[in-house]
Amino acid sequence: METQTILTAKHPATWAFSRRLNQASQLPISQKFPSLISKTCIKCKRDEIRSNVPSKKMFILGLGYVSQFFAQELKNQGWDISGTCTSITKKKELEEKGFDTHVFDACHPEWKILDILSCYTHLLVSVPPIENVGDPVLQHQDHLRSRLLRGNLQWLCYLSSTSVYGDSKGAWVDEDFSPQPSKNVGKMRLSAEEGWLKLGHDLGISPYVFRLGGIYGPGRSAIDTLLKKRHLSDSQKRRGSRNFTSRVHVADICQALKASISADLHSEIYNVVDDDPAPRAEVFEFAQQLVNKRWPGLVTTNKSSIERTDPIGEEKRVLNARMKNELGVKLVHPSYRSGLQSIIHHMPDPVSL
Ligand SMILES: NC(=O)c1ccc[n+]([C@@H]2O[C@H](COP(=O)([O-])OP(=O)(O)OC[C@H]3O[C@@H](n4cnc5c(N)ncnc54)[C@H](OP(=O)(O)O)[C@@H]3O)[C@@H](O)[C@H]2O)c1
Repeated sequence: METQTILTAKHPATWAFSRRLNQASQLPISQKFPSLISKTCIKCKRDEIRSNVPSKKMFILGLGYVSQFFAQELKNQGWDISGTCTSITKKKELEEKGFDTHVFDACHPEWKILDILSCYTHLLVSVPPIENVGDPVLQHQDHLRSRLLRGNLQWLCYLSSTSVYGDSKGAWVDEDFSPQPSKNVGKMRLSAEEGWLKLGHDLGISPYVFRLGGIYGPGRSAIDTLLKKRHLSDSQKRRGSRNFTSRVHVADICQALKASISADLHSEIYNVVDDDPAPRAEVFEFAQQLVNKRWPGLVTTNKSSIERTDPIGEEKRVLNARMKNELGVKLVHPSYRSGLQSIIHHMPDPVSL
């Protein structure tokens, strides 16, 4: 990795909490606020006592791409998982995949969905902010706080984005770099992070914020884009003109999430990215080579995907040392190269796609 100045400054919202011990999370909310245990939660407790095993119950707000992979891994380990999506159609699809799913649109919420949260020990939030609204779930933070206070929440993680950093003119940034997003999307993310961190602190736990790079994995990669001969959206083209784009394979996000569940001593904010921030054009060139090698002649060069243009916008390279050092994550895919090789290796013949 090229040596560069690392820009650091304390994040104003997390100064007081950086690297604090996770002692608060060791005590269940029900022990700290015994009078607040709800009837529903008493039932959960009874079930727990009967089985004599501490519950491992994960609720996922937004069973999207990443959280479905994560949910499947936890399910395989015996976790009790439930989650949400915004439509009946999606609910049916998720139920066919074996996920217990509730329809929940935070812009038109069904309160009873938030009510059941008090039965869960773990909460993953994967719902992105919305233009002119901000974080749609945090609109209901008072209701959410009161429900969670009646429960037994031990772990909370908000999936954020490296877009919070804004522009560092290509310098490496770590989690102590003071975020300065210039675009609305980054500003909304930063505000959502602050909201979820505050909610966690109000609940007496030490929450996590994971700042994810561009997510890729099976079914969502440069290879898939080439094979489906998709045209890039304007925002993808703008991102494509950057010199550096941080990425992360979904398997490594799942690793980091699982490591955070068992971590005793931890920070609150982690960059979850690979070691190799690279221009989108370079990634597409590599994907094209892989496709040409495996299925010669199937895809002709998709110029709209791999064209290099003048760099514009926010340039930064995001460091992942904290994730490795504190959570012990050893990246399965340190670079897009191994990530894409693995994707094409496991891919069925594209004729059947
Ligand atoms: N894509 C990237 O490269 C990238 C990079 C960094 C960070 N992130 C962020 O990381 C998180 C996980 O990414 P992902 O790609 O796995 O996300 P995703 O597949 O887009 O999933 C987002 C989930 O949020 C739900 N949702 C959206 N609007 C909602 C609303 N108003 N009320 C309730 N639920 C709502 C969606 O429901 P439906 O399934 O019903 O639509 C979906 O389940 C997201 O917040 C994403 O924005 C993404």
